[in-house]
Amino acid sequence: MDPKDKSSSYFRNWISIAGKVLSLIFFVIIACLFLLDFFFQKKNPYLGILAYLVVPGFLILSLLLIPAGALIERWQRRKRGYVPRFPIIDFNNPLHQKWAYTTWAVVTVFLLFSAIGAYQAFNFTESNTFCGRICHQVMEPEYTAYHQSAHARVNCTQCHVGSGAEWYVRSKITGAYQVYSVLAKAYPRPIETPIRSLRPAQETCEQCHWPQKFFGSVEQNHEYFLPDESNTAWKTRMLVFVGGGMSSQGIKEGIHSHMIGDNKVYYVTTDKKRQEIPWVKKVGADGKEEIFVDTDSGLTSENPPKGEMRKMDCMDCHNRPSHVYRAPSAAVNEAMTRGGIDPSLPFIKRQAVKVLVGKYESHEDGAKKIREALERFYKQKYPQILVSKESKLEKAIQTVIDIYKANFFPAMNVSWKAYPNNIGHVISPGCFRCHDGRHQTQEGKTISNACKICHAIIAQGPPGSMESNVEGLDFKHPDPDVGEAWKEMNCYECHTGDIA
Ligand code: HEC
Ligand code: HEC
Ligand code: HEC
Ligand code: HEC
Ligand code: HEC
Ligand code: HEC
Repeated sequence: MDPKDKSSSYFRNWISIAGKVLSLIFFVIIACLFLLDFFFQKKNPYLGILAYLVVPGFLILSLLLIPAGALIERWQRRKRGYVPRFPIIDFNNPLHQKWAYTTWAVVTVFLLFSAIGAYQAFNFTESNTFCGRICHQVMEPEYTAYHQSAHARVNCTQCHVGSGAEWYVRSKITGAYQVYSVLAKAYPRPIETPIRSLRPAQETCEQCHWPQKFFGSVEQNHEYFLPDESNTAWKTRMLVFVGGGMSSQGIKEGIHSHMIGDNKVYYVTTDKKRQEIPWVKKVGADGKEEIFVDTDSGLTSENPPKGEMRKMDCMDCHNRPSHVYRAPSAAVNEAMTRGGIDPSLPFIKRQAVKVLVGKYESHEDGAKKIREALERFYKQKYPQILVSKESKLEKAIQTVIDIYKANFFPAMNVSWKAYPNNIGHVISPGCFRCHDGRHQTQEGKTISNACKICHAIIAQGPPGSMESNVEGLDFKHPDPDVGEAWKEMNCYECHTGDIA
């Protein structure tokens, strides 16, 4: 190419030519990946990353090389004085006409493809596969628990991002930092909660649920097994008052009354996990304020303690709507109720909980040692079981291993202990963070801890001889040794989740 030849195109230079060739190559690659992703039933997250994020990035870079080469070429020619300051465009010149049409066609096609590409990239970065599987180890606990939750069909982003461009951009900005922390292995194990940047519940949960909708009560059936040789069973049926207006039960308000209509509850926490709440303010629909202070904290109502002040929303109770890591005692009770673990195996409740709380390095290590420990126990203490109930024992062992894999993630230090569930009060303080009978106004009114304000036990006892009363029964503790101790102590002080 002769640089002195003024008629030769600026685009005839090595940089622009390389740009053109590379663009074509990357374009073909994208087209192939796109088709692969389209026709593959099982979505592969890495394919998506390549097709919608990485290769398009290279394509844009190569496309930029084309004008960059031309500019450099022009600049060099100008330095040598052959070129006017601005290009002279003359639409009567057929060559210029040809160039104008080609540029127009190329830009149009490019914009069209970019629009499709950007749309695909948007969908892809909002997909569960992207959120849950790219950083496999980091998100494994949440992804696994999510698939077992009531929200298994709700996308991650519907709770974590919500709709609208602002939150999309915000999530990608924090996402960029998260990608860095994964690559640099700088992420905390376990991931810290509460997530402070979580979008307000009004804009996520309330898109599908809304507090005004709650009324009446929901029935819950619990079956428990004691840690004795015969795994003595105990059942509790209760009505949980989820509603707002509960006048039929003689109760003014139900559980969701904290936020119904103009009711508001504010509180201050003094710890990171929002488990200690010494100061609570209720603002009624009429604007009347009441301040409840933990009488053990030595605080007064005028001066809230230093700490985070929050207006109560869905997440203050439902902090685990999608990622529940079950405590061993609860998970084993449930498996025994559903038949995964046969209650006729002696001491199985006690032993299953015992092996689940052991320390293991990985899921494989856990599976191996759980099997060994249970087999050893029955071999030593009940050798006849190995023969007479071989298949039942095998099924029980497999179920315990499955419980382990679904609720314990040693690589991320995740288990029920890392993420206390604020619904309830038996295994972690939950409702009793405020409803412990110690939070008082100056006039001496307390946030009630009476069992009957939240639920009515309508039947309880050993299966077959349960007592029942639809008006509600006084709670009876299943373990006779505990007697009336539950009246003096909070349930969660004894029930840490790892006692059988
Ligand atoms: C129904 C709503 C909902 C859905 C769906 C959901 N999450 Fe969450 N997620 C939450 C809430 C609420 C928290 C807890 C926030 C807190 O404690 O501050 C949370 C917490 C997390 C955390 C922090 C660690 C932890 O276990 O608490 C991660 C990571 C996470 N979610 C990832 C995901 C991924 C990945 C998906 C999709 C596979 C998903 N989430 C789907 C509501 C949801
Ligand atoms: C995209 C819609 C959607 C969003 C957003 C959503 N949910 Fe749900 N949620 C559902 C559906 C659907 C069900 C019913 C599942 C069923 O019937 O098993 C449900 C069920 C529930 C239940 C009952 C759970 C159970 O075990 O029966 C609770 C509690 C709940 N959601 C709380 C929340 C909270 C808290 C949030 C916000 C963090 C939220 N949901 C966000 C759709 C949603
Ligand atoms: C004071 C604590 C608290 C707050 C705040 C709260 N909930 Fe609940 N919610 C409960 C309890 C307790 C239950 C019943 C037990 C359960 O389902 O686990 C419940 C039940 C539900 C259910 C299932 C109801 C049914 O009929 O099966 C949904 C859905 C739900 N809540 C959504 C929400 C949403 C959305 C918000 C925010 C607007 C919210 N909750 C705020 C404590 C709360
Ligand atoms: C941040 C503190 C706080 C937490 C946590 C909390 N509550 Fe409340 N709750 C209050 C306050 C304050 C009131 C209003 C008390 C009053 O007016 O006497 C209230 C009132 C109630 C009422 C109405 C009581 C009545 O007398 O009719 C119910 C039911 C209730 N809460 C259930 C729950 C449940 C269930 C949970 C746990 C899932 C829970 N609360 C967690 C602060 C809290
Ligand atoms: C502030 C409201 C509130 C008060 C007060 C309260 N509970 Fe509960 N209780 C709950 C909620 C919410 C749950 C959890 C329901 C769930 O798991 O979805 C629960 C669960 C239970 C369960 C079933 C536990 C399980 O998960 O197996 C029992 C039993 C129980 N409560 C007994 C009592 C007794 C006895 C008292 C009185 C000393 C009491 N509760 C006081 C709100 C309350
Ligand atoms: C003084 C300690 C203590 C207190 C307080 C206590 N429990 Fe228990 N609970 C026990 C012991 C010990 C057992 C026997 C079985 C075991 O080791 O889990 C038990 C067993 C149970 C069981 C059956 C076994 C199982 O798998 O859960 C239930 C249900 C139960 N308790 C509910 C409650 C409730 C609800 C409260 C609060 C109202 C409470 N407990 C308070 C010590 C206590």
